[in-house]
Amino acid sequence: MTHNYAAILQDISDAIHQTDFTDARKVDYIPALASVPDDHFAMVLRTADGNELAIGQPDLPFSIQSISKVFALVLAQRAHGDDLWKAVRREPSGSAFNSLILLEQEHGIPRNPFINAGAIRVADLIASRYANPDRSVAEFLGQLCGNPGIRVDNDVYLSEDQHGDRNRAIAYLMKSFGKLDNPVEDVVRAYFKQCSVAMTAREMARAAFFLANKGVGIDGRTVITPEETSRINALMLTCGMYDGVGDFAFTVGIPAKSGVGGGIIGVIPGEFSVCVWSPRLDTRGNSAAGIKALEMLIRAIGRSVF
Ligand code: DON
Repeated sequence: MTHNYAAILQDISDAIHQTDFTDARKVDYIPALASVPDDHFAMVLRTADGNELAIGQPDLPFSIQSISKVFALVLAQRAHGDDLWKAVRREPSGSAFNSLILLEQEHGIPRNPFINAGAIRVADLIASRYANPDRSVAEFLGQLCGNPGIRVDNDVYLSEDQHGDRNRAIAYLMKSFGKLDNPVEDVVRAYFKQCSVAMTAREMARAAFFLANKGVGIDGRTVITPEETSRINALMLTCGMYDGVGDFAFTVGIPAKSGVGGGIIGVIPGEFSVCVWSPRLDTRGNSAAGIKALEMLIRAIGRSVF
């Protein structure tokens, strides 16, 4: 069934602008992100037949933060194959994205690649195999979205680096268990840089398209196999929204990945990729308006992946 996506996006945008999100707060532990105006909103949908629909501010760059973890995972999977799963597990954590508790109890092996511990280990695996680990995720995103100009925002990177004690603690804890191969500083630098990449919602919807399209990107080239694509989507569904993943599956019901910059990517395989961005976050670190917008989208089209 075809939908009038343009009308649906307009309704969503109207509803978002009429909703009070003042209880939701922007990320506060990365000071460089504090200057982003609170009420920005963008939503871009890229359909399987190649149409693109956008509303709000789809061409304004934002900090992609943890959304980068999906693309880093693809790079690590390419380089390490199934050995990757000896280094990180595939279970939801039920705790905050930057928690150290499970890591101590589980001997330095992260629950999944999307909590910070798992993403730092993935950055470590990338550092072992790629020539320029500080740039490999940004370059990969540039290829996927068709803009080779995708870059790390240096102010955000410096801010993350200066306020990176907790991520360093995570990395050192893994190192103490013998579960990190490269020096902590090299690994956290690459990790901070991938989180500090700036992209627009339009670019993000394009970059995520292969996840909705059996592993084939917007330029028709194969990024990963259909089977690998299903696996990444499964991980997004079970681990992509941190300790909000159960609620999100219940209310929205699509594979998705959020970042504390306020972006969320999501897909319905075979139908579309979507990126929504709005900086104010709920208590779990997910965009409050972004979740509402995705919920409205799924209601309007009458289906989720379930
Ligand atoms: O390492 C951090 O804490 C941030 N660079 C990324 C966290 C993030 O985006 C979690 N998302 N909800």
